[in-house]
Amino acid sequence: MKKDKGVIEIKVMTVFGTRPEGIKMAPIVKELEKRKGIESVVCITAQHREMLDQVLNLFEISPDYDLNIFSKGQTLTEITTRALLGLEEVIEKEKPDVLLVQGDTTTVFSGALAAFYQKTKIGHVEAGLRSGNLYSPYPEEANRKLTGILTDFHFAPTERNRQNLLREDYSDSKIFITGNTVIDALKYSVKEDYTFELEKLNQLDYNKKRVILLTSHRRENIGEPMKNIFTAVRDIVEKYEDVELVFPIHLNPKVRDIAKTILGKNDRIHIIEPLDYEPFTNLMAKVHLVVTDSGGLQEEAPTLGKPVLVVREETERPEGIESGTAKLVGTSYEKLYKELDTLLSDQAEYEKMAHAVNPYGDGNASERIVDVIEENLKL
Ligand code: UD1
Ligand code: UDP
Repeated sequence: MKKDKGVIEIKVMTVFGTRPEGIKMAPIVKELEKRKGIESVVCITAQHREMLDQVLNLFEISPDYDLNIFSKGQTLTEITTRALLGLEEVIEKEKPDVLLVQGDTTTVFSGALAAFYQKTKIGHVEAGLRSGNLYSPYPEEANRKLTGILTDFHFAPTERNRQNLLREDYSDSKIFITGNTVIDALKYSVKEDYTFELEKLNQLDYNKKRVILLTSHRRENIGEPMKNIFTAVRDIVEKYEDVELVFPIHLNPKVRDIAKTILGKNDRIHIIEPLDYEPFTNLMAKVHLVVTDSGGLQEEAPTLGKPVLVVREETERPEGIESGTAKLVGTSYEKLYKELDTLLSDQAEYEKMAHAVNPYGDGNASERIVDVIEENLKL
């Protein structure tokens, strides 16, 4: 049943399309639903399908619009044009006072562009992250910058993100430091004594074994870099008998093909389907360390006190590295093997990294974001 919202003064449309956007936008949708005087309209592009639907189920969000643009093997151009066409119609019909996008995917850029074409105000959640290399992460660094140009409210997670925007001459009056909503979502999902639906995950002995959690999906890593990453973790599992690897594998068939040939044949390597967000974060809370090229995991792992080796050449999230929990190791076989070897053989090195820090906020980012919208847009 819809809550009594009083007289509607602001209509806010949230647009998102992939798993990480869903996770980080969900706490904002929940906050918008709570506030009197605000009408929340949710439009998903469904750039991801199954991977997004599980997030909607968990957070009990029923989108008002589902553009259903997903197709297997979709190209960047297809995602952009389908999202733009679908959004044009929805924005024209709903005429929101502000449209919110989150992060750096192609849905984000398309959402911002579609809003701009109709002179609709834009709020960019997770604004101001920069790697400094337009091709890494690709195409995300470009998506962020292109979205920034069109944005009216830059919701920057950290002071560093604000500084990045100031360096690009954005007006300080449009930048709001809020923390990252990833922490809001994490508070909602990680629980003590969590039991997994997937029995294999309950059977792993997280105390006696050292479990490595691996995720990898970045477009620029597909090919040689991903082969190096998978070969290095496989060889490390083979070296240490008390090490197990869990790899919830992305649905991208290109990632699956590489994984199958390299990681297929070891009974301490567990390749499983992508986990829903709740089991995934509860798994992360139990493992020994994390190897990833993901953006979101670089924020979650430090918060949970898990050392994280970032298998990318650049990162837009240096905060975790400065705090000591994350290390940027690149994608060469030798470097990753060496860093893993050190973490598994040198307890002091491991302890140095295994501490919970939270450079990304206090879990109240969504509240701050909605406050800014109210303060600026209420009649
Ligand atoms: C996208 C984002 C990336 C983000 C990632 C999160 C772009 C260009 N990339 O990358 O920034 O980090 O999501 O996971 O916006 N697939 C399915 N079902 C799904 C989702 C994906 O089968 O629910 C498969 C399809 O074959 C699809 C492929 O994965 O073609 C790639 O999906 P796509 O959204 O194009 O790129 P991602 O690598 O997921
Ligand atoms: N995640 C998940 N299931 C998985 C792997 C990741 O729910 O099997 C979550 C994870 O907790 C994080 C987000 O998905 O919040 C990160 O998504 P991804 O790595 O696909 O994208 P990125 O953050 O790199 O854009």
